[in-house]
Amino acid sequence: MASQVDTHARFGGVVPEIAAREHLTALPILFAQMQTQTELSMDDIDAIGVTQGPGLIGGLLVGISFARGLAYRYRKPLVPVDHIHAHVHGALLSTDEKISSSPDFPCLALVVSGGHTNLYLLRGYDEFYLLGSSIDDACGEAFDKVAQLLGLGYPGGPQIEKLARDGFLGAEKLPVMLNDKRLAFSYSGLKTAVSLLVKDKGESIQTHQVKANICTAFQEEALGQLVRKSKLALELFPECKGLIVAGGVAANQRFRLLMNQGFPRPCRFPDQKYCSDNAAMVAAYAYRKTQKQGSVPTPEISWDAYSRYDFAKYQTAQTT
Ligand code: KG4
Ligand code: ZN
Repeated sequence: MASQVDTHARFGGVVPEIAAREHLTALPILFAQMQTQTELSMDDIDAIGVTQGPGLIGGLLVGISFARGLAYRYRKPLVPVDHIHAHVHGALLSTDEKISSSPDFPCLALVVSGGHTNLYLLRGYDEFYLLGSSIDDACGEAFDKVAQLLGLGYPGGPQIEKLARDGFLGAEKLPVMLNDKRLAFSYSGLKTAVSLLVKDKGESIQTHQVKANICTAFQEEALGQLVRKSKLALELFPECKGLIVAGGVAANQRFRLLMNQGFPRPCRFPDQKYCSDNAAMVAAYAYRKTQKQGSVPTPEISWDAYSRYDFAKYQTAQTT
């Protein structure tokens, strides 16, 4: 993993063009490092996994071009994978970096990242059935926007989590969103409620305790909604044996506690280092795909990047 956070932090968010250029600089260095650190040569590598989407198109094109180059040069199969699904496979990696034991299928999987809040029914390693997603903002995005409203840095999630530890639960009231039987998520109303609260506080918003109380109230509802909807999914699909949680927000300790306490079946969270975007999760998913399909042929290499997640594709699959 190479982090670009410092480069983007002064803009308060990711600048797509800069991200693509940073990928171009970082990839050859990472590739060389990977070979030295693992003491593996390309002869030891069976296939090359690559993120096909969703994501910022510039970064995707750089990544896919690099992977295509490697595939041609070393005559290896190229395995394109979906970024959101790869997060789930990151949660299945064990700390010793070996592919972990199989989860019990069927199970539920919840990916909570900066761009997506997707809840799946998982029948196998590559059988994703989308049960619900956000009707507006993603959960991680709401963390980032609320952090901005409070004048905290980027990325907002870790800053809010830290400040929320000093807040008093119940000191501030925020609305409970989508408190019904819909399998969907919503975060923009919560963000608006925080912005009104911030206005209402006037000058006092500058004090540490007031900010901390708002962070606590926001975090509790943002995470509480994830727990509520996961429980609802289990009511509707009681055959699910457990829950896998993944994505950047899965790094949040309060989230782990609330889910472990509130969800009645075993919950599996990623190791801390596999929560944010990383290459291991892409490799893990590509490995499962090659296991399933046998040897993937050396590439025609015509795969294209896609910037948006194909919601319809995985929703339709649910009914079949
Ligand atoms: O999965 P990820 O690394 O990138 C995407 O694919 O989007 O997720 C990044 C998101 C950001 O919105 C960030 O604020 C959030 O994950 N995040 C957290 C925490 N750490 C990262 N949100 C809440 N608590 C955290 N500790
Ligand atoms: Zn991600």
